Amino acid sequence: MEVSVSILSNSISAREIVKDLEKTNCDYIHVDIMDGKFVENKTWTFSQIKKIIGDSMIPLDVHLMVKNPKPYVDDYALLNTSIITFHYEAVNDISDMIDYIRNYGLKVGLAINPDTEVEKIYPYLKSIDQVLVMSVYPGRSGQTFIEDSLEKIRLLKEEINNQNLKTKLSVDGGINNETGLLCKQMGIDVLVSASYLHKDLVNNTMILKKL
Ligand code: DX5
Ligand code: ZN
Repeated sequence: MEVSVSILSNSISAREIVKDLEKTNCDYIHVDIMDGKFVENKTWTFSQIKKIIGDSMIPLDVHLMVKNPKPYVDDYALLNTSIITFHYEAVNDISDMIDYIRNYGLKVGLAINPDTEVEKIYPYLKSIDQVLVMSVYPGRSGQTFIEDSLEKIRLLKEEINNQNLKTKLSVDGGINNETGLLCKQMGIDVLVSASYLHKDLVNNTMILKKL
């Protein structure tokens, strides 16, 4: 299992989490960017993120919870970014946004909110690298996993197989060893987690990696 560690926490500083990540076998640093428009909260500015990431070599998995993703893509393309994910609900022209990220040579992720039907994103599965299924309402860490997400993951996996694609499935929100295992059984490739991992970064990352 691939594990992407979110640095969003109310109690621990993001910089401390990034430093500690060197001791783990995580695959990505999950950077949650909120603009106060697409979601109520706001997170870091780009210059704050540059300081938080420092000289870490762990690839970034950037999750844009913003209304207008393009300027953010311009910024995050400058860092050690592997994938940029934007929200289906945030932009009008999904294909244009996919191309915009792709033109930087980056992988493209498409996120869907709990209330968005999975069928809506079927037409884009062939043009993206990863789907990010939101298993909580975006905006903050520490929420409870929404069980309906499992059926969405199952349907997406089925559609990806039907279309003969290699598109990966990722899930974000309320992920721990138990919900992570349920997601794995539905075909998830990447688990994103904050609060569960922050409790014991090294051990809990290992537990999710081994699922
Ligand atoms: C929520 C963020 C998540 C969040 C996950 O809007 O996108 O990445 O940090 O936090 P947990 O794992 O605590 O639900
Ligand atoms: Zn996220």
